[in-house]
Amino acid sequence: MDKQEFPQDFMWGGAVAAHQLEGAYQAGGKGLSIADVMTLGSHGVPRKITDGVVDGEYYPNHNGIDFYHRYKEDIKLFAEMGFKCFRTSIAWTRVFPNGDEAEPNEAGLQFYDDLFDECLKYDIQPVVTLSHFEMPYHLVQQYGGWRDRKLIDFFTNFATVCFKRYQHKVKYWMTFNEINNQTNYEDGGSAYTDSGLLFKPGEDKEKGMYQAAHYELVASAKAVQIGHQINPDFEIGSMIAMCPIYPLTSKPADILFAQRAMQTRLWFSDVHANGFYPQWLLNHFDRKQFNLDMTTEDMAILKAGKVDYIGFSYYMSFAVQDTGKLEYHENQDRVANPYVEASEWGWQVDPIGLRYALNWFTDRYHLPLFIVENGLGAIDEKTADNQIHDDYRINYLHDHILQMKKAVLEDGVQLLGYTPWGCIDLVAASTGQMSKRYGFIYVDVDDYGQGTGNRYRKDSFYWYRDMIATNGAEIN
Ligand code: BG6
Repeated sequence: MDKQEFPQDFMWGGAVAAHQLEGAYQAGGKGLSIADVMTLGSHGVPRKITDGVVDGEYYPNHNGIDFYHRYKEDIKLFAEMGFKCFRTSIAWTRVFPNGDEAEPNEAGLQFYDDLFDECLKYDIQPVVTLSHFEMPYHLVQQYGGWRDRKLIDFFTNFATVCFKRYQHKVKYWMTFNEINNQTNYEDGGSAYTDSGLLFKPGEDKEKGMYQAAHYELVASAKAVQIGHQINPDFEIGSMIAMCPIYPLTSKPADILFAQRAMQTRLWFSDVHANGFYPQWLLNHFDRKQFNLDMTTEDMAILKAGKVDYIGFSYYMSFAVQDTGKLEYHENQDRVANPYVEASEWGWQVDPIGLRYALNWFTDRYHLPLFIVENGLGAIDEKTADNQIHDDYRINYLHDHILQMKKAVLEDGVQLLGYTPWGCIDLVAASTGQMSKRYGFIYVDVDDYGQGTGNRYRKDSFYWYRDMIATNGAEIN
């Protein structure tokens, strides 16, 4: 890897999501999103989903880091690091406060015009996710979230408005963030954040999840078609949570089970990229007698709306052992991998797994890839003189970028860019904590929203800036 650089057009940047940093949850006519009714949790303590906003509860996303008012200052800092791109999402509820209106909210649209203009001022390309764990709460209350086919029209209407409005400002889009997290439908959390599903007692959760996911995939494919009609230069991708799942041993039964676990987690990208369902899953639906609402027309839409690239997040890998059945239930079936270490939040850190993932996606889909999230959530200490010595984050990023470099330069993987997660500290999605920090920029806000809100450059800020300036040449 001696002094070799990444390709000249490689997009270095950072990633965030609207609901995790914007705050201002009612400004400019914004409606309530599903994130606005999630309380603060912690490692091992899930966030509560309340019935509307309840007095006396604390909702971290209501304030975020007040990016809504401070974005100019933050983008200036991203520019100082040399970002070529900035991944964020458009809060659906700023544009359609309830989600089912016919006409959009101009104030919400204007906010993103201003935000994208500010990025473009510094030659930072916005990379935009349409739905990132922040669908309108009204759609959950009124329609039961994505279990209702009507959501396809609501979403495609939202997508169409965004595509038309920002067609000259945004080229790279993604439809649904980590659409495949709902594989973990059993505990309810991911099915809620992905699809707005709140399960009723006695409901067949698995069937509910598959039905919702099907409607989302159809909506995604429709959006891809619409987007390409509006601007043929658009690149519209999937967004998949990639966690490679290894067999714990070389026992054939472990290997077969690991393969099924990967299929279970990643069939979503099969549909996005191939335009049809894998046969093992159709057989599974039949065996379970789900009788899902999947029409011939839906299948034609999936085929016609294949994604242009695979965007994915990468944080960790899992391991599994044969359980004697060929159905994977992630929360129960994961076992600790003795060869990798875990973060303070129990996420198994595995840089080599990133190279594995890049090769796996390439071999399977033959599409360009985009790493749109990767990073280390950790507790940072700010010293009395406002320094943050986060060498652990630098090491983490270095090790992952090295594997990425090998995949690009040695294996020939076509990688568009790299946007580490939470390039500025923000509210954690799983726990709602501010103290689980990912950023290059420290934000003086605690778990309860207390603090000055001031921004401070961490050591990793300077490291990442220099790494971008040398285009990865020093990563060896
Ligand atoms: C991904 C999400 O799951 O991981 C982000 O797309 C999220 O929204 C990120 O913030 C890190 O997870 P967490 O729970 O540490 O914020």
